[in-house]
Amino acid sequence: MHRSVLKSELLENLCLNDSDIVLDGTIGYGGHSREILKKLGPQGTLIGCDRDRTAISYCLEEISDPRLTIYDGNFSQASHFLELMGHKAVTKIVVDLGMSSFQLDHSGRGFSFQVEEPLDMRMTKTNELTAAIILNTYQKNDLEDMFSSYSDLHNCNRLVSNIIERRAKNPFKRVPDLVEVVKSSFFFRNKRKQYIQTVTRVFQALRIEVNSELEHLKLFLTSLPSLLHSKGRVAIISFHSTEDRIVKRYFKEHKDIFTPVFKGVISPTQYEIRQNSRSKSAKLRVHEKR
Ligand SMILES: C[S@@+](CC[C@H](N)C(=O)[O-])C[C@H]1O[C@@H](n2cnc3c(N)ncnc32)[C@H](O)[C@@H]1O
Repeated sequence: MHRSVLKSELLENLCLNDSDIVLDGTIGYGGHSREILKKLGPQGTLIGCDRDRTAISYCLEEISDPRLTIYDGNFSQASHFLELMGHKAVTKIVVDLGMSSFQLDHSGRGFSFQVEEPLDMRMTKTNELTAAIILNTYQKNDLEDMFSSYSDLHNCNRLVSNIIERRAKNPFKRVPDLVEVVKSSFFFRNKRKQYIQTVTRVFQALRIEVNSELEHLKLFLTSLPSLLHSKGRVAIISFHSTEDRIVKRYFKEHKDIFTPVFKGVISPTQYEIRQNSRSKSAKLRVHEKR
């Protein structure tokens, strides 16, 4: 379903104790959570949440452990889940941002440019906004802003004009509709790597917009000081520069509250990248509350 990234690096730097109260804000398919449970003692607690109902159903069926409670919801509302459990704060937090491999490959929601699926991209099906709605209705400036700020695609004028031209004749419905427009909007000089990087960024920007990913990350960070006990640790894995910039800036601006457990970021080893090419862009930051 999903191969968890930076597993040993994450566990090592969290320094788990028997009695920790841990929040896994992105439980996904439970890869990190299963490892955390192995380290907790009988009195430990793990609270897992995810905004994707398919992931939640999988964990509810597959991970049966009295120390684990799972919530269907957004990590930006973590304080609410803690309250339901009778906790004010936790001792460890894990947030592994982005997508699971299952979402990318088999969700039927068009997250990947390699699948023939509807242009949906909603992690939470109750949201109304889909990728197709964005492509078919957003104004030129809004599309340009989205691609440049969420994916650093600054040379996107031609892409945006082509999107607007195409939708006037034939609205966007499925993944290949967008792939076709990307291919006709950039000059890739037969370089497959360049094509893959560009199309990945286009899909990433849409996914971020559909799911308000950066807003939720910022909300979560704002609530972080009150979610963590003193000496508690938070580990965040990000997968692209836009996310990582937000995390890095937050901790820089909150030096009085958090200290880094190590300098900079931990990236996957070459061995991990060979085993799981999707881990390539992962960056782990771990901080401790003073
Ligand atoms: C990389 S996967 C997590 C994988 C998990 N750590 C594991 O080892 O199996 C990212 C997960 O985060 C979830 N997610 C992304 N943004 C979220 C948010 N704001 N609130 C809750 N879950 C979120 C996605 O639905 C996805 O299941």
